[in-house]
Amino acid sequence: MTTTEALIAAADAHSAPTYHPLPVVIARADGAWMTDVEGRRYLDFLAGYSALNFGHGHPRLVAAAKAQLERVTLTSRAFHHDRFAAFCTELAELCGMEMVLPMNTGSEAVETAVKTARKWGYRVKGVPAEMAKVVVAGGNFHGRTTTVISFSTDPAARADFGPYTPGFEIVPYGDLTAMRAAVTENTVAVLLEPIQGESGVVVPPQGYLAGVRELTRERGVLFVADEIQSGLGRTGRTFACEHEGVVPDVYLLGKALGGGVLPVSAVVAGADVLGVFRPGEHGSTFGGNPLACAVGLEVIAMLRTGEFQERAAELGDLLHRRLAEIAGSGRVTAVRGRGLWAGVDVDPGVGSGRVVSERLMERGVLVKDTHGATVRIAPPLVVEEEDLEWGIEQLWGVLSA
Ligand SMILES: Cc1ncc(COP(=O)(O)O)c(C=O)c1O
Repeated sequence: MTTTEALIAAADAHSAPTYHPLPVVIARADGAWMTDVEGRRYLDFLAGYSALNFGHGHPRLVAAAKAQLERVTLTSRAFHHDRFAAFCTELAELCGMEMVLPMNTGSEAVETAVKTARKWGYRVKGVPAEMAKVVVAGGNFHGRTTTVISFSTDPAARADFGPYTPGFEIVPYGDLTAMRAAVTENTVAVLLEPIQGESGVVVPPQGYLAGVRELTRERGVLFVADEIQSGLGRTGRTFACEHEGVVPDVYLLGKALGGGVLPVSAVVAGADVLGVFRPGEHGSTFGGNPLACAVGLEVIAMLRTGEFQERAAELGDLLHRRLAEIAGSGRVTAVRGRGLWAGVDVDPGVGSGRVVSERLMERGVLVKDTHGATVRIAPPLVVEEEDLEWGIEQLWGVLSA
């Protein structure tokens, strides 16, 4: 048995089978490259579902984490600590908003947003008790907690996990007419991914986000943009909403906010929205801890340079030019995306998304399939141009074999 086989067998025996990873065991990583326990190198074309926008082990993030590790890592919110104010101030500023509610995972940020919208609905909008509704889109992915899967349309995410949390209305993604019909006087929020990541990097029709913005403003409803995967540089802008010149009422951030070092998430909004909370009504032992704030502050400083957004836009152009060539080959049925982020639907005659991912692994590129036929491409934004070209060549090699 090889080391890889032994480690996979042990993991299979002792971990709950909630994932179906590719048969590769990573031991170290640097930038856009990972190395397995046998010493083989792989180009990372997934970037931890965008948590690794800045690549593996970015020196600025590692230095920030190390410096903070030696000072103080956890105080709980029972006390103030000296990185908290700066983190909240600078993150609010990056978002053009006023207040931050820091959490840890993306799912927690979404849960927090649902609670925020409901409380805002009752206290500010005047929705009758227990009547608050949140409108969401079909095909969404907002996480795995019981409330969040209650408004998923993915049977795998939902089956056998009921009873579900009520208070959600699901409309087709990209359909403004359906959205307009679903919003009532008891609607407190519209919760959307500006680009649906897990659904296969689905970009809504041009004008959709602006239309949702107009509708929510008109009807006195919060527009909550889940930018946990789409935000922080991935699409060539800090936020995917910027592509339509839209500023939502609430941003949900996660993944890359923790620099690929630790889980850091946040709900960011105006004081009229997040100011509805009183002490004791929401919290988290780890949310806003000193280590998270130190890493998050470095992430914000890096985003402020604009360098990563620019890279994502430039390399994204190259990626989409290459994918457009592949799209004409008959080997794929659709290609979508924005910035350094793409979903490629593989023709069933070529093989499933899983088969393509396995063959790419054999050629030294790591991707993850989604929804059967789709391969998602999302390299770290620090990927070298020639590495990106090489990775796309490998994809073409697998598709055309
Ligand atoms: C848009 C979006 N929201 C929320 C989440 C949930 O984040 P987490 O896995 O950190 O709970 C994800 C994760 O993929 C996501 O893509």
